[in-house]
Formats: sequence, structure tokens, C-alpha cells
Amino acid sequence: MSLRFLQAFVSSPATVGAVWPSSPALARAIVGEANLGSAESVVELGPGTGSFTRHIVGGLRPGAKFAALEKNEGFAEAISRDFPGIRVIPGCATRLGEHLQSEKMPAPNAIISGLPWAIFDAELQTAILSQIQNSLADGGVFLTFAYYGPHRSAAGRRFRANLDSLFGEVRRSRVVLWNFPPAFVYSCRR
Ligand SMILES: C[S@@+](CC[C@H](N)C(=O)[O-])C[C@H]1O[C@@H](n2cnc3c(N)ncnc32)[C@H](O)[C@@H]1O
Repeated sequence: MSLRFLQAFVSSPATVGAVWPSSPALARAIVGEANLGSAESVVELGPGTGSFTRHIVGGLRPGAKFAALEKNEGFAEAISRDFPGIRVIPGCATRLGEHLQSEKMPAPNAIISGLPWAIFDAELQTAILSQIQNSLADGGVFLTFAYYGPHRSAAGRRFRANLDSLFGEVRRSRVVLWNFPPAFVYSCRR
């Protein structure tokens, strides 16, 4: 699993954006904020090798809709193989709204992201965050993570400013040390 991740990073570093998948501890921290017990519709962006996916799938209530949107073809195929039965949308998060419509997905109560925000330029960050903000159900939550340390870089601060300008409430979790690198979760509501 980690080898597949590393290979994908080597062939497309500008999309994968990390050399190592997120840890189970970070997966529990991010998925734990999603209120899966009451969610009817959940979307994951950038599942990669499925670090968050397995925790999401394990926590969904019966009948809940779940879709994972992945830009990297190899990851999308592998996710479909590793998690038979889930809906995998091969595509880009900049077109999230269109993808959800064509898949007839109800507005998500939770959008969980593994996207590599720090390597996206300002325009791409804003384009994807606007799609997320517009797609969420009323009362829905957007969850993403940032590496502790790089969150203070110009790109990290720009990302936080972008979150603050688009969402009415932005909360930060404690730092998850058992991740490489340590990271924390942003929980955002409109
Ligand atoms: C850092 S990896 C995270 C993978 C996994 N969620 C984790 O935390 O280990 C980023 C993932 O986002 C995907 N990705 C990057 N840009 C994307 C985009 N615009 N739309 C959809 N997926 C994208 C990459 O292909 C990769 O699978």
C-alpha cells in the first residue's frame, strides 16, 4: 500500500503531494469529526490508497450514500478493487458539483478531504474550496488536514485564510503526533 503511494508520488508529485499515506491515528481523528452515525451522504476527496476510506466505510450507517472522487487513475482503479461496492468517481475536485449531480449524490453531510492543499496554487485552492462550500448540505461539515509546521508557511497561511473567508466556523483539532509528519484536522461549517 505504501509502495503504491510512493510510486504514485514519484510519477505525479504535483497531484499526490505526499510521500507517505496518512496514519490510522489521523484517519480516526478526521473521520471521528464527520458524525457518520447520522450522515446520509458522505464524499471523500483524494482517497489515494484508502487510509481514510477504510475508516469511513467502517463507520457509515446502513443505506448511507458514499462516493470517493480521485484524480489519479491508478489510485481510482486500486480503490475500486480494494473497496468493492463503493462508488469511485475518477475525476477532479474542481468539478465536484458536476460529478455529484451526474452521480445523483444527495448534498453531502460530510466532505472528507485528503487533498494536498499546500501544493495547490491560490487559484486551485479557491476553485476547489468554493465547490466544496457550494456542495455541502445545510449543517454539513468539511474536514481536511494540514501538516503541523508547514501550516505556518505562506501556502499554509493562505489556505487557512481561504477557509476563514469561505466558512463561518473553522476549528482546529489537537495535533496528531502519530502521523508522518504530525498533522491536525480542520473542521469547517458554513
Ligand atoms: C496526499 S494524497 C492523500 C491520500 C490519502 N487520503 C491519505 O491521506 O493518505 C492526495 C490525494 O489527492 C488526490 N488528488 C490531488 N489533486 C486532486 C484533485 N484535484 N481532485 C481529486 N483528487 C486529487 C491525489 O491523487 C492523491 O490521491
